[in-house]
Amino acid sequence: MLPITILEALHQARQDIDDIDARMLLQDVLSVNGAYLIAHSGQELTPGQVKSFRLLAMRRAQGEPVAYLIGKREFYSLDFTVTPEVLIPRPETELLVDLALAQFPLDLACKVLDLGTGSGAIALTIARHRPLAHITAVDVSAEAVAVARLNAAQLNVANVRIIEADWFEALGGERFDLIVSNPPYVAEGTAYLSRGDLRFEPRIALCAGGDGLDCIRSIIASVPGYLNDGGALLLEHGYDQAQTCRDLLSEAGFGGIFSCPDLAGIMRVSGGRLGVS
Ligand SMILES: C[S@@+](CC[C@H](N)C(=O)[O-])C[C@H]1O[C@@H](n2cnc3c(N)ncnc32)[C@H](O)[C@@H]1O
Repeated sequence: MLPITILEALHQARQDIDDIDARMLLQDVLSVNGAYLIAHSGQELTPGQVKSFRLLAMRRAQGEPVAYLIGKREFYSLDFTVTPEVLIPRPETELLVDLALAQFPLDLACKVLDLGTGSGAIALTIARHRPLAHITAVDVSAEAVAVARLNAAQLNVANVRIIEADWFEALGGERFDLIVSNPPYVAEGTAYLSRGDLRFEPRIALCAGGDGLDCIRSIIASVPGYLNDGGALLLEHGYDQAQTCRDLLSEAGFGGIFSCPDLAGIMRVSGGRLGVS
């Protein structure tokens, strides 16, 4: 194999994959950052590095998400380990975290529940920004719970309890000040599922019945039994689900109901407060 430089390797990979993806894969192979690739573009790669990079580029060209290929994804400026058993944290979910952090100040020992924690992205990010909070994170997937626990250890987070359970089943009569969730909300059978990263993500993290609202309906119906009076619920949902979420919240006795758009202008999070008119 003829020696090739960083620049040449990137150039070759760009025939089949995006430049940004190629850079992320090569950074991972070399264990360097983006600035290094630019500053050392003339550096020759070893045959082993070229082989590893070409294999990753080939898998990417076949559709595998970069996050699964390199085993991590940045969320709210924190690095999360991700495996094909968990949803890849999305930038739009940062809105849910922004809204959650706005609910309570740094010096309040608030009780928070994250339903369907996956990699732990939401619960662990809130925990890092609110060290006094007592956070419970639940997921029905044993594999997701293992990934979330690994992330808790890697991010040095001690104020999160991670439980394997079906939504509220393990919580007894416990009540919380804030409940957050990015539940599965994609309609089964939609064409969207056969595109991009979604093809490789766990169906249990994505799909929620014929209209995508099964989990949202079930969570909103149960939440009043687990929220303190005046407590808040924040739910991420699909682009066309905001009105239904607001209706469901109203039927369940919530007040101060709102929906909030993400950076793309799509209504992405809805919420309300219990016992507030
Ligand atoms: C859309 S993913 C969200 C993952 C993570 N919170 C995030 O925002 O990246 C939904 C999560 O809900 C979990 N889930 C699905 N059904 C559940 C259930 N009945 N009880 C608890 N968790 C469930 C899935 O395993 C998945 O991890």
